[in-house]
Amino acid sequence: MQKTITLTMNPVVDKDTSVAGIVPNKKLRCAAPMYYAGGGGINVSRALKKLGGSSLCVFLAGGPTGTHLRQLISQEEMAHKAIEIEGWTRENLSVTDTNTQLQYRFGVPGPKVDKDELNSILAYLEEKVNYNDFLVVSGKLPLEVPPDFYVEISKIADNKKAKFILDTSGVALLPSMKANIYLMKPNLGELSTIMDVPSISVIELETLAKKFLETYKCKVLVVSLGAKGALLAHESGIEHIPAPTVHQKSTIGAGDSMVAGIIYSLQTNKSLSEAIKYGVACGTAATLHPGTQLCNKEDADKLYEWVLKNTVEKKEKKPN
Ligand SMILES: Nc1ncnc2c1ncn2[C@@H]1O[C@H](COP(=O)(O)OP(=O)(O)OP(=O)(O)O)[C@@H](O)[C@H]1O
Ligand SMILES: [Mg+2]
Repeated sequence: MQKTITLTMNPVVDKDTSVAGIVPNKKLRCAAPMYYAGGGGINVSRALKKLGGSSLCVFLAGGPTGTHLRQLISQEEMAHKAIEIEGWTRENLSVTDTNTQLQYRFGVPGPKVDKDELNSILAYLEEKVNYNDFLVVSGKLPLEVPPDFYVEISKIADNKKAKFILDTSGVALLPSMKANIYLMKPNLGELSTIMDVPSISVIELETLAKKFLETYKCKVLVVSLGAKGALLAHESGIEHIPAPTVHQKSTIGAGDSMVAGIIYSLQTNKSLSEAIKYGVACGTAATLHPGTQLCNKEDADKLYEWVLKNTVEKKEKKPN
């Protein structure tokens, strides 16, 4: 059976708390913290589960914080595999000032990962990935991991004829473009970096998307456009999919929810166009809730109906 395997190279334990007033040089008495597992692939796996799908969630974990991360993932009741590393899993802190409702988010770099540890990731995936599976790589690479490491991962998908799905940013973005990719989901900023342009206007987007497909070994390009929805580009054409206007609470994990929605639909034999529409609905569904809650199925299904009704099919105009 076709499986989905997600890989998170730089996972995080997110620690959330709140305090009334953030001021310097004073001890701030914060509320008891809440802890969440985070990182691109982990979010895709969690969102897939919320939609009714399943995946094998593979992530790196090290030190006491790595043990904590494993505990948090175990509570999610999804199939997972922690690849043991020596460096400690990072822990990020978010503090909401209850006087202003502003959230302050502090992020730290991930641990070092040595060559043997990288080899054990490759060996594990080599064993688990099978023909036609989705291998989803989402999120940044930890510091000092070779920036083209995702290309090594993509070779496993290549050899097994599995589908490599990529959603990354930062230093790994450009070197990853040497990979053989089934589906890539950059946002506009990431697409500008790849195409080496300072910014992209709506008018230029289609031309750049076509150029992207000609330049890179990528079958399906999905450019996420935030509140404006997404652009789907592949060999059969280009489609613009609008997103519903909603009262957004938090856009954290919108991109990961979108990727989960796309995979969930593809796994249930939907067409590419339907899958991206469901992806847009899931991305928007994730914005309806505060914090890192990702999309829920009920919202996603309702928003999908809206997306279906509001997508204008691009039809070639035949001359009279
Ligand atoms: N303000 C919004 N209103 C409605 N839908 C939104 C909004 N922001 C995001 N979305 C939905 O989520 C999808 C992905 O969002 P976005 O383009 O912001 O991805 P991203 O930049 O990769 O996000 P992430 O921060 O998760 O990496 C969009 O295509 C859209 O469907
Ligand atoms: Mg993103």
